[in-house]
Amino acid sequence: MKSPLGQHPSSADLLAWYDRSGRRLAWRGPTDPYRIWVSEVMLQQTTVAAVGPRYARFLARFPDVAALAAADWSELAEEWAGLGYYARARNLHAAARAIVAAGGFPPDSAGWRALPGIGPYTASAIGAIALNEPLVPLDGNVERVVSRLFAIETPLPQAKPELGRLADGFTAQPEMRDRPGDFAQALFDLGATICTPRSPACAICPWREGCRAAARGMAAELPRKSPKAARKPLHGVHFALVDAMGRILLERRPESGLLGGMLGLPGTPWRDSPWTDAEALAHAPRPELPWQARPGEAQHGFTHRDLTMRVMRAEVPALPDGTPLDQAARSLPSAMRKLLPLL
Ligand code: ADE
Repeated sequence: MKSPLGQHPSSADLLAWYDRSGRRLAWRGPTDPYRIWVSEVMLQQTTVAAVGPRYARFLARFPDVAALAAADWSELAEEWAGLGYYARARNLHAAARAIVAAGGFPPDSAGWRALPGIGPYTASAIGAIALNEPLVPLDGNVERVVSRLFAIETPLPQAKPELGRLADGFTAQPEMRDRPGDFAQALFDLGATICTPRSPACAICPWREGCRAAARGMAAELPRKSPKAARKPLHGVHFALVDAMGRILLERRPESGLLGGMLGLPGTPWRDSPWTDAEALAHAPRPELPWQARPGEAQHGFTHRDLTMRVMRAEVPALPDGTPLDQAARSLPSAMRKLLPLL
């Protein structure tokens, strides 16, 4: 179906494409709010490819909201290890407990929005996919598709409100209103497989005829982005206290701040200037031991920070409450795991 440039292209055309070419993903089946919620939280900062195997494992361990609410934080932290953005897991846990306390899932997206960790995007995604509300969740894929359809040259993030209004324009179409969850996921798939950031495959796009950017040959240039502020540096020194049995001392990090509530090697606070060995030693778990600085550094990028870490090591005959190194490698968050090769 043709649509004149400037109007919204047909949601029926996109849905027909989705029925033929949409991805078969683990969370696309019967629409159980728990399964949709978990998938959307995992997908917030993590790629579809990385989420796939972890999603199945998570559901096997915590099959429903009651199981998640009843779990200890340490179990959830261990299951989340390596996925990053650990505040997501803390919020998931808090929300599961709130849902159980309330006696069930919120009935609509506004109710979901009030739960920890549920922002406007996730509330809309759950509303559309699990509750059939006519909402268009605005994620990076959808922003890209819409900015191209309407050739919006305002850079992100300033363009967000305008892109949101344009995306909402699809709700006027009955075909979208019949299948809002499929429509949302069709937009995600279009953005992930055809309307890709660098080299969009406009030739095979179901919306090619309605796309202003394609008509002007400028799809690959959009959306424009305002330059990002550089990440600030952070520095820390961590202490590897190991024993003759291959165990290492781990501790749980404070609840607030980066990697809050996750396991880690004991260490200095993270600050914006490097630590000397002498300064760092004031934070060592057993300062009387002959701590040795290890060569090398580990780097880890957080959203707004670039962390550089060094390691100091000491050995004792036996650490009864130490963790075997192979187990540490599995349950530490990625940033901390990067320290292990420096030991
Ligand atoms: N990204 C966020 N939610 C998604 C979904 N339901 N399917 C594919 N990619 C997504």
